[in-house]
Amino acid sequence: NPTDQGVIHSESPSNIALVKYWGKFPDQIPANPSISFTLDTCATSTTVEYNALPAKTGKASFEFFFEGKPKPDFEPKLQTFFDRTAKYLPFLKNYHLKISSSNSFPHSSGIASSASAMAALASSLVELERRHNPEMDRQFANLKSSFLARLGSGSACRSISGSLVVWGEHADIPGSSDLYGVPFPDTIAKIFQDYQDTILLVHRGQKQVSSTVGHKLMEGHPFAKQRFEQAHSNLRRIKEVMISGDLDAFVDLVEREALTLHAMMMTSSPYFILMKPNTLSIIEKVWEFRRNTGLPLCFTLDAGANVHLLYPGQNKEKVLQFIKNELVAYCENGQYICDQLGEGTKIS
Ligand code: PMV
Repeated sequence: NPTDQGVIHSESPSNIALVKYWGKFPDQIPANPSISFTLDTCATSTTVEYNALPAKTGKASFEFFFEGKPKPDFEPKLQTFFDRTAKYLPFLKNYHLKISSSNSFPHSSGIASSASAMAALASSLVELERRHNPEMDRQFANLKSSFLARLGSGSACRSISGSLVVWGEHADIPGSSDLYGVPFPDTIAKIFQDYQDTILLVHRGQKQVSSTVGHKLMEGHPFAKQRFEQAHSNLRRIKEVMISGDLDAFVDLVEREALTLHAMMMTSSPYFILMKPNTLSIIEKVWEFRRNTGLPLCFTLDAGANVHLLYPGQNKEKVLQFIKNELVAYCENGQYICDQLGEGTKIS
């Protein structure tokens, strides 16, 4: 019987927000809508081996391995995830799960792995539910995976589908929801279809501010209201840009969003500067490159010092040459990762 025991494999990519999610309400409800590119190469691969329990324990039990070794420090986060999702996955209490995960990107590279990890786990559990209920259609399964991934880590809900995903209710995006991510409803301009994201690893290691602490900084933040309104208007604008392919407007919006995210952290209580001197040097170099070449290379940032460089596939050769010649010097151990738009979670 396929529901007694079996194996599910899920591979989920990371994602990079263009309009950022920063600030949330209880139950992982975002304070503003966000939109992200789904990545391709940076991914978490998760295998769930499930075994039906002989007697009902009333609670799912699990063990967790990361890159082949037990990882007890991840267990509290997983336990929280299982507690939050238990009521949506009632059948799970009859199982023992052996969860094994690995990441395609280097250890403590400063790349957030919670989005890809939570998306991979959530989609494996929904796949187990589909084995009980084969009629559940793929689209519903994706929405449910996204819904559950959100309960693990907010931005994880944008890693189920590709290649452009909206999370958070927005008047101009039909079907958008605070509860899960939805694929961008319109066809995106051709120029965006092979967009590249080269991630420059400026600072590896633990993030200075966890995203849980970070989102909290928006509570009582003096600019919170304006920021949430701005995110709504930026999403409206970026929707038009994604359809029209206006790259000047894209560059302006994306960099503005990245700097605003960091400005929010610089003006909160307590305040933080998450950029490093090398982050700023890279930004200056990117602006100089754009002035000199006219190519639409732009940067974005997460809540950390690493820099994501976004550009069309047709400019890849020139941009990679520029990175090798001028930017590698600012990367820790010269490390960077070449990624591009991807199609989201794959299950087998
Ligand atoms: O998903 P969380 O709670 O780790 O928050 C992520 C927030 C940012 O990465 C800074 C922005 C975003 O929208 O992904």
